[in-house]
Amino acid sequence: MAKQIGIDLGTSTTLIFVKDKGIVLRAPSVVSIDRVTHEVIASGKTAKRMLGKTPGNILALRPLKDGVITDLEVTSLMIHDFFERLDMTSVFNRPSALVCIPYGVTEVERRAVEDAVFEAGAKNVGLIDEPIAAAVGAGIQVSKARGAMLVDLGGGVSEAAVISLGGVVQSNSLRTAGDELDLAIVNHLKATRNILIGEITAEMLKLRIGTAIDGIDRGSMEVCGRDLDTGLAITIEVTTEEVREAMREPLSEIISMVKMTLEETPPELSADIFDFGIVMVGGGSLLPGIDQAIHERTGIRVIIPQKPKPRDCVCVGLGRMLQSTGGDFSEFVRYKVK
Ligand SMILES: Nc1ncnc2c1ncn2[C@@H]1O[C@H](COP(=O)(O)OP(=O)(O)OP(=O)(O)O)[C@@H](O)[C@H]1O
Ligand SMILES: [Mg+2]
Repeated sequence: MAKQIGIDLGTSTTLIFVKDKGIVLRAPSVVSIDRVTHEVIASGKTAKRMLGKTPGNILALRPLKDGVITDLEVTSLMIHDFFERLDMTSVFNRPSALVCIPYGVTEVERRAVEDAVFEAGAKNVGLIDEPIAAAVGAGIQVSKARGAMLVDLGGGVSEAAVISLGGVVQSNSLRTAGDELDLAIVNHLKATRNILIGEITAEMLKLRIGTAIDGIDRGSMEVCGRDLDTGLAITIEVTTEEVREAMREPLSEIISMVKMTLEETPPELSADIFDFGIVMVGGGSLLPGIDQAIHERTGIRVIIPQKPKPRDCVCVGLGRMLQSTGGDFSEFVRYKVK
């Protein structure tokens, strides 16, 4: 029988779950290819190290942006390379894949996911709404008539969704997420310190010393960039406060989106959410103080799952669906293709 797998194709990270095995791959969604032949040179971690550093004949690319595929061919090359690592590319080993898609995507964006995974070598492809997979992964009993709110703060997209009875009742998404926070740090240092740093360095600042609220001091960090006056490399020390200040606006936008989703939620479900709390997943939920920042603006407590880790919830959710015998979850598959 074909291997059954779940794929969380994220803007920053791709995770693959193999039925009966668990998560077998966790790699940056980056691929480097030969500019002329389009042959894959590296994917995942190795390719990420090449970003912004490639010579003319090599392209290092992130084929997804804002949660959606921007280059279909490159995406399928990347996934194919991941499949190859897992020995799933021979005719007999082609997997049957369950893939999640952000809730608000367009028909064209949805088709791109199907096509990319199919082209990469999958025998067939089923699609699941990401908030449902995230909820299942976080251990929420999605089929109950009880409202639950999921907030997924990823690399390319922030999503807030209210689910009940196995479906999405209310949802909003914003193409302001982790990548935009990095960009805000780049822009802030450009404006206040007259220095240009790369986005990878900005992400490092966010991860090491970033916070979402005042009162958490994570110290400072030295970074190297280009002095915009002299054009020369320079090292500066950046503080926690500077990073927080840089991220203030995009973070506020994200929290406003969460608040708006709550305001649009039917009252019976709001009461459930008020009782239970907001469940937060995705890499952004690891930013110190983000739970408190959301709590302060909404009055609702925020739960960040510990096991599985917030970045694994979507993929673990897909895995649980695959694992469930008797096809309990088949009703959640939105589209079964090919
Ligand atoms: N400790 C941390 N603090 C702050 N941000 C973090 C932390 N760890 C990871 N991130 C950020 O989380 C983002 C990646 O999260 P995640 O893996 O959930 O995204 P994704 O699923 O690939 O993207 P998307 O769901 O938007 O398509 C990146 O922007 C990364 O910088
Ligand atoms: Mg994601």
